[in-house]
Amino acid sequence: MPGPGMELIGEEEKREILEVLESGYLYRYGDSSDPKFKAKVWTLEKEFASKMGSRHALAVSSGTTALLTSLWTLGIGPGDEVIVPGYTFIASITSVIFARAIPVLAEVDETLTLDPTDVEKKITNRTKAIMLVHMLGNPGNIDAFLQIAKNHDLLLIEDCAQACGASYKGKSVGTHGIMGAFSLNVYKTITAGDGGMIITNNQELFNRAFAIHDQGHLPFRQGVEQGKRTILGLNFRMNELTAAVALAQLRKLDTIKAKLLENKKILKEELSDIEQITFRKILDKKGEVGTLLTFFMPSRKSAEKLVASLGCTTIARSGWHVYNNMEHLLGKMTVTKEGCPFNCPLYKGGDMNYYKGMLPQTDDLLQRGINISVGVSDKGLGSAFGIKITSTHDEIIDIAHRLKKEIKNAL
Ligand SMILES: Cc1ncc(COP(=O)(O)O)c(C=O)c1O
Repeated sequence: MPGPGMELIGEEEKREILEVLESGYLYRYGDSSDPKFKAKVWTLEKEFASKMGSRHALAVSSGTTALLTSLWTLGIGPGDEVIVPGYTFIASITSVIFARAIPVLAEVDETLTLDPTDVEKKITNRTKAIMLVHMLGNPGNIDAFLQIAKNHDLLLIEDCAQACGASYKGKSVGTHGIMGAFSLNVYKTITAGDGGMIITNNQELFNRAFAIHDQGHLPFRQGVEQGKRTILGLNFRMNELTAAVALAQLRKLDTIKAKLLENKKILKEELSDIEQITFRKILDKKGEVGTLLTFFMPSRKSAEKLVASLGCTTIARSGWHVYNNMEHLLGKMTVTKEGCPFNCPLYKGGDMNYYKGMLPQTDDLLQRGINISVGVSDKGLGSAFGIKITSTHDEIIDIAHRLKKEIKNAL
């Protein structure tokens, strides 16, 4: 099973789905005076906002459209640069490209999220935003990025796709920056198959995001046109069936997080006396969501030996989430003095090339990095080995013992 939410799909999701099917309303809009209309999307938005401690939440079709809608809402476009990590799912990068702005790749540090020192070096007079991706269930260095954003007058966007349920200093991820985007695909903490959520505290941005996700309309329409539309939008709406599943899952989020953290603790403690490995740096131990246990082997060679015995891969070889493996991005988007490849007239030139090995610090960490599943078993993260949210105590101890033995053999 891919993610912990998926593993726990059960009666609650079935009940919610049946309610929608029996209501006769599949579209997010319905007749609010009809008791049959269950308004699942609307309810999901209210409950999600309340759970995350945000004033507004908007349900959309995916994490990718959540990011794209956020970038458009913030007016990011031609001529703008957005700093993104070299270790992230490609959607963090492609959403910037489809906003017709330029993604600038930066290093990650031992947190496996953006490195503030490298980000500062990448800021130019065209930089408009930093996209902080809370990778692998863990908040990035929010304090550092809030300060950098303030010093340089930049927008901080949080990509929380992999970190639903995580918080930093007591506040949910996604509420620290100007906008936060979440994914509900099957590899995430909670899932509805696909789907996404956007959160923001800003009413104006919420209205704008709503309009972009639904043909320029204002929030709370009933499926009929509303006058005075000032911007054009598209259709990134969520439907009632998706929201029904997402609602049941959201109500399980606290239980999922508590169980993941409990299981992760057992697994981690069993490995704690192996001095040669270093665990990924966690900035807020109470804030992580605990979907993965990540550590670094002392060398690339020992990491390769370990994964060969476990039947998984190092993070560097895991595919999807590593810039070096994004063959459809590499080399194709060189920005020359003649202009950028997206025909943005405002861009004044400069070298922007994406090539293998351009982020040596990230490469070193990922070549030695191992992701063990605590609740997200995803070959695309390299986490084919590990436990599930439903693993028993004995199963966790068995896996921990095997892991420990193989680590020692590989050293
Ligand atoms: C960090 C990150 N950002 C964005 C996304 C895109 O989410 P979705 O698959 O829902 O479009 C993902 C999904 O894997 C992700 O991991």
